[in-house]
Amino acid sequence: MEIQQRTHRAQKTAPILKIREAGFEDYDQITALQIAYQRPARSYEEWEHVWAHNPAYLSAGSAWPKGWVVERADGTIVGYLGNIPLFYELAGQRLLTAVAHAWVVDANYRPYSLALLDLYFSQKNVDLFLNATVGPAGRDSFNVSQSPRVPVGDWERSVFSITNRQGFLAAWLGEKARPFIKPLRFGLAGALAVVQAFSLPTVPTNGVGHAFRLCKNIDSRFDDFWKCLRKNNPSLLLAVRNREALEWHFKFPLRRDQVWILTAGTDAITAYAIFLRYDSPAAGLTRMRLIDFQSLDGGTALLAPMLKWAIERCRREGIHMIENIGFHPKKMKIISQLCPYGRKLPCWMYFYKTPHQGLAEKLADPNAWYPSQFDSDASL
Ligand SMILES: CC(C)(COP(=O)(O)OP(=O)(O)OC[C@H]1O[C@@H](n2cnc3c(N)ncnc32)[C@H](O)[C@@H]1OP(=O)(O)O)[C@@H](O)C(=O)NCCC(=O)NCCS
Repeated sequence: MEIQQRTHRAQKTAPILKIREAGFEDYDQITALQIAYQRPARSYEEWEHVWAHNPAYLSAGSAWPKGWVVERADGTIVGYLGNIPLFYELAGQRLLTAVAHAWVVDANYRPYSLALLDLYFSQKNVDLFLNATVGPAGRDSFNVSQSPRVPVGDWERSVFSITNRQGFLAAWLGEKARPFIKPLRFGLAGALAVVQAFSLPTVPTNGVGHAFRLCKNIDSRFDDFWKCLRKNNPSLLLAVRNREALEWHFKFPLRRDQVWILTAGTDAITAYAIFLRYDSPAAGLTRMRLIDFQSLDGGTALLAPMLKWAIERCRREGIHMIENIGFHPKKMKIISQLCPYGRKLPCWMYFYKTPHQGLAEKLADPNAWYPSQFDSDASL
């Protein structure tokens, strides 16, 4: 309702612009707009891949809008909201899910931003709206659109381990990494205290004996794993993680060697952890992020050894830190033992909404959630 009021006000105060569906041909203008507002930009090949090879998009068909643009009469694009389809499952039912992605509107045309969001939430064929990358600029709008917070995981805080203290300190001295440093409360403690603070104990080596395998590609074992995972967890909302979905999700990070997919088990996979490179050029930091951890028995015994493996590798490769956001408290408890630092994020990041009453009731139950950074567009 509030969205409609704001859109209506916008039409009174600003010239009427055209809002239309986005197409691949809009790439140059959309990318220019992202760059103008310091948002991450992708190559054309990567941007097109989000839809062109997305299993959910291919199944939904060309009726699925890739997003919407606000266009001036002279053809200039002044606003964009991407619309990514994903498949989720709950209780054996497949849910067509929509993710609002890379929302940006030129500051001169901001009254149109909610019109874009309104189009996104008005889609009739969508079962679930999931948004795990909401920033401070979008928080209020997601609130007025009556999207509840995902009820599991702390999506307003990250925990991390420093894996290259010289590099981390250099970023600090360059004053670019303040958001990471401030919560550490070492600000005035002096160089000696800083060195002591960052002299973390060596990661214990137990767990290295596990038969972990680093996968360079996603093979058919992942299909078998997914079949068991979904069968074992009918009451959990899970993003589809079959081979096709994983190949699509991680195609470019795999190509660039920016993702570590670690599996346990010899012939069949019994558990996996996925870590993704997630640098912050603005903060001058190189980072890895734990994206997903799944095990067939639902246990967390292999989480610590897998995380230790990644921490050691970050240390060897000089990556500054490894960071974790939003996991179920049972996983976060283990992660926090290895990642002792924390920082508050600018705002709560993960919201959902569904038009179906029955599904809304199921999702109001925290036991239906097992979130991770694989969800929504958090690692896309
Ligand atoms: C996202 C966007 C389209 C939303 O437009 P909008 O609904 O008209 O909202 P506004 O731009 O007016 O911002 C809403 C609020 O967030 C605040 N805000 C905007 N950007 C912010 C930022 N980077 N950090 C902190 N707060 C921010 C605004 O000051 C405003 O607060 P106020 O209501 O107290 O004045 C628009 O802010 C934008 O294009 N931003 C740049 C791209 C971006 O950040 N995208 C991420 C979306 S999650």
